[in-house]
Amino acid sequence: MSKFGILVLLAIAFLSPALAEQGNAARGRKDFKACAPCHSLEPGRNMTGPSLADLWGRKAGGVLSFDRYSDALKASGIVWNDDTLDQWLTDPQNVVPGNEMPFDGIKDVGARADLLAFLKEATKPGAAPARTAQSQMKGMSGMMDGGGHDPNLKSLEPARQVKTITYCRDTYRVTTADGKMRAFWERNLRFMTDTSKDGPEKNAPAIMPAGMMGDRAAIIFAEPEEIGRFIEPHC
Ligand code: HEC
Repeated sequence: MSKFGILVLLAIAFLSPALAEQGNAARGRKDFKACAPCHSLEPGRNMTGPSLADLWGRKAGGVLSFDRYSDALKASGIVWNDDTLDQWLTDPQNVVPGNEMPFDGIKDVGARADLLAFLKEATKPGAAPARTAQSQMKGMSGMMDGGGHDPNLKSLEPARQVKTITYCRDTYRVTTADGKMRAFWERNLRFMTDTSKDGPEKNAPAIMPAGMMGDRAAIIFAEPEEIGRFIEPHC
């Protein structure tokens, strides 16, 4: 290893252990907005990425209920602590080449310290699930862009409860429980499933706005088999 490499390692070893302690957790809570679209702090709630609850001391790739870890992360042998998390958040692809977290990293050492200070508290076993950062996001981005903590789809207002979907040429027509019908260009309507405890009841899909313009929506079904059954070709 070059002298420079050793120096860098020494510098990391010297600087990092204190990093989470140096940070400002209140600022870090805001920085967590960069993570919240993909990560929950609630135990067992996996999204694009695994739940971050109970992160310190756990093996990388170690959340058993998360099915989408890359082989690279699982084989990395990393145990998450102040040091390894600081390195991961600086440049994930450098730390675990081939991992599948779509995130470039946070280059600012102060921002990383803040975020780690927040995470260290918020991921402790028994820490109240910090939904604040996540719910703050929701209004911004339209929740179906993967953002934040989605509402329970079993208890929605009638305007969100789908009764029928018809398909004619390039148009889906969606009728909701409030009696309203909306037409969508076929490329603007997405079909999704949510089999979690927050998913919709069987045969009672939910419609959620998607994107900023109001012309797009997502329909979320209880299970994939429902999708074809629900859509009625009809002009
Ligand atoms: C666009 C989605 C996305 C964003 C944004 C994102 N992550 Fe991730 N994260 C993932 C995915 C997916 C994985 C799993 C990667 C793999 O298996 O290779 C992951 C893995 C991780 C892991 C390893 C967890 C484990 O169980 O081993 C940590 C820690 C983590 N992310 C922290 C963060 C933090 C902190 C942020 C914000 C600064 C962040 N991530 C932003 C999607 C994301």
